[in-house]
Amino acid sequence: MRLEGKVALITGAARGIGRGIALRFAHEGARVGVLDLRECDSQAVVDEIRSFGGQALALGADVRDEAQVNAAVAALRERFGPVTVLVNNAAVMPAGRLHETSPADFERCIAVNLRGAYLVSRAVIPDMLAVGRGSIIHMASVTGVLGLPGLAVYSATKGALIALARAMSTDYAPCGIRVNAVSPGTIDSPMLHDFIAAQSDPEAVRQQFDQVHPIGRVGTIEEVANVCLFLASDEASFVTGANFQVDGGVGVKGQQPSDQPQGCP
Ligand SMILES: NC(=O)c1ccc[n+]([C@@H]2O[C@H](COP(=O)([O-])OP(=O)(O)OC[C@H]3O[C@@H](n4cnc5c(N)ncnc54)[C@H](O)[C@@H]3O)[C@@H](O)[C@H]2O)c1
Repeated sequence: MRLEGKVALITGAARGIGRGIALRFAHEGARVGVLDLRECDSQAVVDEIRSFGGQALALGADVRDEAQVNAAVAALRERFGPVTVLVNNAAVMPAGRLHETSPADFERCIAVNLRGAYLVSRAVIPDMLAVGRGSIIHMASVTGVLGLPGLAVYSATKGALIALARAMSTDYAPCGIRVNAVSPGTIDSPMLHDFIAAQSDPEAVRQQFDQVHPIGRVGTIEEVANVCLFLASDEASFVTGANFQVDGGVGVKGQQPSDQPQGCP
């Protein structure tokens, strides 16, 4: 029960990594807000949490929409009390080199990945200030630090989230609020499955993802959730402004010429 007494809001929690974090946090005693565009899938996660005796609330909201975000945070507060843990996990990932993406892809990616994290943080920080404690985790990516091909727009948002965590940590440390980033390498998740399915040779790309990580495989959702659990818990009481790479060593190794999946043009 490492999160007993905490109220945690996780965005993009209807599937994938966000769902894994919601389940892990609930197992550890947190009362969890499962926020996502996909309200039916959020409710399924809540039902799963209730099946093992956990407490959760499904929140249908678009993180790009200020009114929807504020309403979701208010509903969670009303049900469980002040929000003391936030994981900004919702994201979209337009693929392609910069000139291959559209301005609409760019706007949507910035709006979900960066504006969303801004709006949801802004909505929960007053609760954290009022109780004098809190933990905010921005889900970034190794792409926010490394240059990986075909992900320029997505990578820019993830680099911004790492900078946001660092800057916010200095503003809020005196108030008892810790802010960190988590940067996964490639994780076996629906987002990865969608990306691989869209490639011309999905099996080759899948093998390439495994090989690029020095540990020899992609990561699991649970391996990311475990690091978030640590950062959300009081065990991380002296940890703020950090970027935790959960990446099987790919961040140390960096990008090798043989990892390049596409040439020019
Ligand atoms: N899967 C990976 O390999 C990987 C690697 C590095 C970082 N990440 C990051 O981890 C996080 C989760 O990734 P995932 O693989 O589970 O993705 P996913 O696509 O499986 O899940 C993302 C969730 O966010 C929700 N969402 C999207 N737009 C939203 C919006 N506007 N408002 C509310 N919810 C919205 C989706 O409905 C979905 O349930 C993301 O931030 C992603 O960038 C993933």
